[in-house]
Amino acid sequence: MRVGILTGGGDCPGLNAVIRGVVRKGEVNYHDGFVGYSDGWRGVVQDHTIALDAHVCRGILPRGGTILGTSRVSPQRVEGGVEAALQHLEKVDALVVIGGEGTLRAALELYNSHGVPLVGVPKTIDNDIGATEVTFGFHTAVQIATDAIDRLHTTAEAHDRVMVCEVMGREAGWIAIYAGIAGGAAEIIIPEEPFDIEEICASLVRRHSTGRYASVVVVAEGAVPKPGTMEIPELEIDVYGHKRLGGISNLLAQEIEVRTGFESRVTILGHVQRGGTPTAFDRVLATRYGMAAIDAVHDGAFGQMVALRADQIVRVPLSEAVGGEMRKVVPHDLFEVGEVFCR
Ligand code: F6P
Repeated sequence: MRVGILTGGGDCPGLNAVIRGVVRKGEVNYHDGFVGYSDGWRGVVQDHTIALDAHVCRGILPRGGTILGTSRVSPQRVEGGVEAALQHLEKVDALVVIGGEGTLRAALELYNSHGVPLVGVPKTIDNDIGATEVTFGFHTAVQIATDAIDRLHTTAEAHDRVMVCEVMGREAGWIAIYAGIAGGAAEIIIPEEPFDIEEICASLVRRHSTGRYASVVVVAEGAVPKPGTMEIPELEIDVYGHKRLGGISNLLAQEIEVRTGFESRVTILGHVQRGGTPTAFDRVLATRYGMAAIDAVHDGAFGQMVALRADQIVRVPLSEAVGGEMRKVVPHDLFEVGEVFCR
């Protein structure tokens, strides 16, 4: 078969490992040929392709980013994009779409309305895609954030300060809750559990009054205050319809300093969480996903996404993963694990 591959949305550690897994198994087991589309769906719409074979994939397993490039473009948002994509996709027998919610939603629409033979692979550091227990890239982002929190602890102690550390994740608190628990944060603030600034300050004061000094507060970029407890400015919406998140930690640190008198500082980890080499866990998961995706192509399991459930790679309908409001959020019992150490 001639199989197209694209990587779309924000980059994420492990994308290259998936590409390598698809190509390697496709060549060795099925004698497939591959076409790489550059910059996600943009490459499909514009018919920009990159030669892709096992030789090109040599040495890419530990590399961050994506050798194919990426973008947040989707055919449905470009004038004439769907027609152009359909025409260009006639040159391949199937398409492997490696992406997060936006990229996979575009894939689902093309599958539902035009029967495009495609298979999805769930990618995102945010870990918020439904129907899979974990997306590749999440584990790496958590490790990067945990390492940063460990470092913040020592400087916080040296100066007896409150360090507010902001992590990514959009409207899901997965990175914050995992890195916060792993890093021993004094407070973990996630979008799923709106916060009360007064309660947070009271808890920090209580903690310091028992002889502990220096606190690390981990906040997810999408965290929101309980209604009526704190003013936050309206967020801008970008061209892809996403809220432009980032900066809630500045407001929090200011409030904490004013209300408690504890000197406070801010660290926004930002894109550092997405860059660089994937952890061993993500390399293995990405490789398994890639190999399962090419198997799904040969089984004609189109409109499906590969997923991890109970350590098994399974196939689920794309509609189960990204159709409707299927975002996977942090359950309350996991939030409570963090809370035990905050009070
Ligand atoms: O979805 C991945 C993610 O890194 C989010 O955690 C973050 O809010 C967003 O992408 C940042 O997007 P951009 O790279 O476009 O600034």
